[in-house]
Amino acid sequence: MQALPAPSADHPQTMILYNGGMWTAQTATDCRRLRRALTGTVAFVPTMGALHEGHASLMRHAASLADHVLVSIFVNPTQFGPHEDFAKYPRKLPEDLALCEQAGVAGVFAPTVDAMYPPDTPECIVEVPALAADLEGALRPGHFRGVCRVVAKLFNIVQPEAACFGQKDYQQWKVIQAMTADLLLPIRIVGCPTCRAPDGLALSSRNAYLSPEARGRAVALYRALESARHLVADLGETDPAVVEAAMRQVLESHQFTVDYAVVRHPQTLARLDCLEPALTGGVVALIAARTAGVRLIDNLLIGAD
Ligand code: PAF
Repeated sequence: MQALPAPSADHPQTMILYNGGMWTAQTATDCRRLRRALTGTVAFVPTMGALHEGHASLMRHAASLADHVLVSIFVNPTQFGPHEDFAKYPRKLPEDLALCEQAGVAGVFAPTVDAMYPPDTPECIVEVPALAADLEGALRPGHFRGVCRVVAKLFNIVQPEAACFGQKDYQQWKVIQAMTADLLLPIRIVGCPTCRAPDGLALSSRNAYLSPEARGRAVALYRALESARHLVADLGETDPAVVEAAMRQVLESHQFTVDYAVVRHPQTLARLDCLEPALTGGVVALIAARTAGVRLIDNLLIGAD
């Protein structure tokens, strides 16, 4: 175990040791001090909490990349729109800390909103318009600005060598990759495979909002993605409109309202006139759809090596 530095004189209460071993920091100052006390490399898993098996698999992946795993738990207000679910987003810090400890995490940064966004500080804008304007960005104005801003802050505080993001948030993963490259941050951004329930539903903290009846129908997202995969990879369909119509049909037949069901370039997320996975390094099918007041997203990379 690493020797832990003493709490600072100005923040004597803010550093908490949890169950002897894993630490929890609430301020950037404490997190930086604790991170510096770790010898060796760090892989970082940023989260908004309500942790599930998908997060645990990110932590396992992170553990394979570095000497220590650090996790952040912060429901970031700046990435939620005014009519979105910030207030009701599930918050379960004690359970989340237990999961992190079980996963062998070295430390958790769980700041308050004021610690991340000091009051009366003029706001800074971090954004990647080329990748963030469409899809989630078009439907959730300001969302990726909020994500980039908080992830840039977290990277600056945690200073990891690598950071793991779920491929389930495919556009977010690409936006963060681009932001990290353009800001010359020496951090390897690793996209980790989506964890799925036995029926194919991607694990997500927002699945908790689904009623049992809607949960049954939510298999539609995976079925729609599978229909896209079948058309492109097995039948050689090259017309994106045909594939997109097929996905939409599956979703609507399960009483989902479709925000988008599209097939795009896997790196740039640009529209494609013709689907030729061998030329573009695969194609990505992306879905966002709503049912019974719950919005779900999912995606599938098709035809990539
Ligand atoms: O994917 C998430 O949970 C969030 O968008 C992230 C990356 C932790 C930023 O708040």
